[in-house]
Amino acid sequence: MKKPRHILTLSDLTVDELKNVFEIAEDLKAKYFQGERPKRLDGQVLGMIFEKMSLRTRVSFESGMSALGGSSMLLEEKHIGLGTRESVKDVSRVLSSMVDCIVFRAKRHETVEEFASYSSVPVINALTDKSHPCQALADMLTIKEEFGSLENVCVAWVGDSNNVAASLVEACSMLGCKIVISSPDGYNFSQEEIAAMTGQRQPGFELALVKDPREAVRSANVVYTDVWVSMGQESEEEERKKVFQPYQVNADLMKNAQRDAIFLHCLPARRGLEVTDEVIDSPQSRVIQEAANRMHAQKGLLVWLLEKK
Ligand code: CP
Ligand code: NVA
Repeated sequence: MKKPRHILTLSDLTVDELKNVFEIAEDLKAKYFQGERPKRLDGQVLGMIFEKMSLRTRVSFESGMSALGGSSMLLEEKHIGLGTRESVKDVSRVLSSMVDCIVFRAKRHETVEEFASYSSVPVINALTDKSHPCQALADMLTIKEEFGSLENVCVAWVGDSNNVAASLVEACSMLGCKIVISSPDGYNFSQEEIAAMTGQRQPGFELALVKDPREAVRSANVVYTDVWVSMGQESEEEERKKVFQPYQVNADLMKNAQRDAIFLHCLPARRGLEVTDEVIDSPQSRVIQEAANRMHAQKGLLVWLLEKK
């Protein structure tokens, strides 16, 4: 039996494959707004396991799958008892015998890796503690729509070097963009993590680590932040709120970025903490377009993975 392709990080795609996913996504998005919903996954079924909360990821996969003529089902942790009622191995083997693809949001990245190793159908990472590849697909689609191309675009990440940042670095590396990461001491990626994220770097890619957020955004066309306390880090909340305060994206910080700079956030946002209302509701903010692009980008990925060739 042919081994399924799993998308646990963006590096599971080659650069050409990633570009192909974008082409399909852009084509499907254009058609969507012309009222066309090609049934390219007619009759196919998506299983979705969520061990953590979600709005965008769940809805974008469900809506996207439905628009493509397929269907999806949500499996919450409390319903299947993954790893408690039944082993990860058995859930994976059983579920993958009944559906065409599995989307998995997990507390631990290693659980998705283990699950995928037993699955007979493609598994897509829908966020783990380490990465969020589907988010980065939507982010790059949004940036390309804004600037017409990804060439010479500089992205500044301000805040925690977390799962969303990791996938964004990977995307910038594979698509040849500049990225500046501004995180407080103790919250930066390690050299090993950076090496793993940039294994397929393309010409134009540059990565800089700049501690001062004002300096970090100076060349930025895109200023991006995320929550200071990710799901699973709740016990660190008080400490993190103190450490990250100087990294808040507010109107003062945005003044230091390029004049054409847009603001991105994967959402959900903690308004008044990592970003002020003034910025997230400003004309520079593209957060709703970015969220909507989750569906279009993932439709590209689903068709690329599942369409019968
Ligand atoms: N950005 C994102 O993944 O949102 P959800 O957690 O709501 O799915
Ligand atoms: N870094 C956040 C992203 C949520 C979409 C988290 O993991 O909770």
